[in-house]
Amino acid sequence: MGDVSRETPSAPPVTPDVARRVFSSARLPLIEAYAASLADAGVVRGLIGPREVPRLWDRHLLNCAVLGDAIPEDSSVCDIGSGAGLPGLVLAIARPDLRITLVEPLLRRTTYLSEVVDDLALSQVEVVRGRADALHGERTFDVVTSRAVAPLGRLLDWSMPLVAPTGALIAMKGQSVTEEIATEASRLAKAGCSPAEVLELGAAVVSPPSVVVRVAWVDPSQVGWGVAPGQTPSRSKSRRSRGRKA
Ligand SMILES: C[S@@+](CC[C@H](N)C(=O)[O-])C[C@H]1O[C@@H](n2cnc3c(N)ncnc32)[C@H](O)[C@@H]1O
Repeated sequence: MGDVSRETPSAPPVTPDVARRVFSSARLPLIEAYAASLADAGVVRGLIGPREVPRLWDRHLLNCAVLGDAIPEDSSVCDIGSGAGLPGLVLAIARPDLRITLVEPLLRRTTYLSEVVDDLALSQVEVVRGRADALHGERTFDVVTSRAVAPLGRLLDWSMPLVAPTGALIAMKGQSVTEEIATEASRLAKAGCSPAEVLELGAAVVSPPSVVVRVAWVDPSQVGWGVAPGQTPSRSKSRRSRGRKA
């Protein structure tokens, strides 16, 4: 793919058999349509690199879908820094029981997200244009997800104020997450969080399995995440849409 320009659409890669085990027969056409959209509009609009297309299923769709194994049924989920919809849109397709809020500051990306939500009639998905920290003090969710958004320290600052007292942060991370956790351990303890757990999900579906860090509150009656140095609590300047362009 080295000589293919960023603006050149690609044909969607063939659906692997394992996808039929991960997505129900009713939802498979939706994830295939999303895969086709990423390979075409996603590449043309610079939302994903053309080199990602041949590995769209393994590295992106399936490895995000297995995150659902750590998300309880009927949860409200906030996916921060959704980009082109990873993992939030994949979860919405795999798990129609979830109510999903996609939070993304960049207009070009929220426009794409809203178009996919409309095209696939994902009525349980809300697209919010803004920074995750703009929702602090306004909204909480059972689960706050993310992939490739920020180092763990900053991710905790953005995510934990959005985690409901009985909820959890569930963030996709690389193998180096163990070192990041060690750096943040005392801050987690001081804020009343349980020690961060590292989970490997989807070993039967993707290789390598998806590495996820999970952080919950120890005591739901004692919940609070201090404002990080240099950060001021922000009132929401975010804009919301359900199935419309943000
Ligand atoms: C590297 S991209 C990852 C996108 C997607 N999660 C993925 O795995 O493909 C990071 C995304 O985080 C978004 N972002 C950056 N700061 C943010 C913040 N404070 N709150 C929410 N999203 C943020 C960026 O706009 C960008 O879309």
